[in-house]
Amino acid sequence: MAAALASTHAHWSSRFAFIMAAVGSAVGLGNLWRFPFMTGQNGGSAFVLIYIGCVLLFALPVLMAELAIGRHAQQSAITSTRKMAVEAGKSGKWSIVGWVCTAAGFLVLTTYSVIAGQVMAFSAAGFAGGFAEPDGATMFYNTDTIKMFWHFAFMVLTILIVSRGLKGGIERVATILMPLFFLVLIGLTIYSMMNGAAGAALTYLFAPDFSAISGQTFVAALGQAFFSVSVASAIMITYGSYLPRDSNIGSSAVLIVSADTIVALIAGLMIFPIVFMVGMDPAAGLGLIFTALPQVFSTMPAGNFIGGAFFALAFIAALTSSISLLEATVAFIEENASFGRSMTAWLLGGFAFMIGAGAVYSEAFAGGFVDVLSGQILLPLGGFLVAVFAGWVIPKSLMRTELSHASPGLFAFFHFAVRYIVPVAIGSILVLGLDDRFNAGRIGAMVGLG
Ligand code: PHE
Repeated sequence: MAAALASTHAHWSSRFAFIMAAVGSAVGLGNLWRFPFMTGQNGGSAFVLIYIGCVLLFALPVLMAELAIGRHAQQSAITSTRKMAVEAGKSGKWSIVGWVCTAAGFLVLTTYSVIAGQVMAFSAAGFAGGFAEPDGATMFYNTDTIKMFWHFAFMVLTILIVSRGLKGGIERVATILMPLFFLVLIGLTIYSMMNGAAGAALTYLFAPDFSAISGQTFVAALGQAFFSVSVASAIMITYGSYLPRDSNIGSSAVLIVSADTIVALIAGLMIFPIVFMVGMDPAAGLGLIFTALPQVFSTMPAGNFIGGAFFALAFIAALTSSISLLEATVAFIEENASFGRSMTAWLLGGFAFMIGAGAVYSEAFAGGFVDVLSGQILLPLGGFLVAVFAGWVIPKSLMRTELSHASPGLFAFFHFAVRYIVPVAIGSILVLGLDDRFNAGRIGAMVGLG
């Protein structure tokens, strides 16, 4: 039975394919849409600095743990955590780690598709000349029916790719789209730096400004780090399960995290010169790329084309992320039921589409229920649980075997982080946040910055 499972379980065809798929999962709307507006709302460079700290201290060790867990057990997140716990002589109930992460990933997918749909609409608007006027693009995204159409279109694309499986679907799309993504990203950033307010953007993003740091900065940065690196959502355990035995997890994790962070910073350098050029407010919030940028595109030479290309870029990034989000749940059902991959993808994608539809019709549902539950509760909780699992439940020697390629220094950092740093830091943020006693000054005061 075990041998049969192992032999039918799919594997990446090359290290390149794995890295493209994993970077494709990490790089997404989190980098191009969420990172710029979070940075804008949280004081620019202060946020950027804390964000990078969160990526290195929290997201990197959790990512290493997830890849190691998946690679070891060769199953979906839920099955892997159960199997590995039992192997270590602990209770199979530790599969709760996998359950929380899987739920988080699935919930992220529901609204991710709605925003990705808007991105598709705006890309189409650009190429159709919709940015000729400041509000031209709204014509392409104004009624609920139109919003549903784009949400539907994006989800169907995601389902179709996941149906084709690891090699024919996910790998193929990632290895073609990710190199294209990097080309367009570099091109647009150079254009923006040369034509926009590059100096103002550089100062805003990188000139140290510690006065803007508050407790809220830490909470926002932590959530953003997990979201952007795609951890705590079952994906990296699932993608890790497709890794061959001899792969180097430490170096892959460092590469994925670096690529993701560099893309976020480049996205800042692409977007803020344009925002500052026309004196827009960087703290415009959630709609920053949807409201601020089109206004700028309407005043720029070739604005329709540049705008269309910008949103096409975001679309590519979103698609390689959404396929990973769907894959994580599909992999679990596939292990336990016999509908076949395609049927599973349609069922789960259809279900996610329906929950996402709630977000089209009700912003309160999107922002309140889904975003708070997934972003502020399930993702941090999932990261906390993965760290506890890798740091306390699984013996250190077993983690060392899975991370055998990692240098002694990297492994020591990893183990200290999953054992102490991540649980303590996230634990306090979760308790303070859930307790509603949390307020902006509190954590800042706790860490001596307030
Ligand atoms: N990391 C993706 C992004 O930055 C989103 C995502 C979150 C994907 C969680 C998978 C899991 O857009």
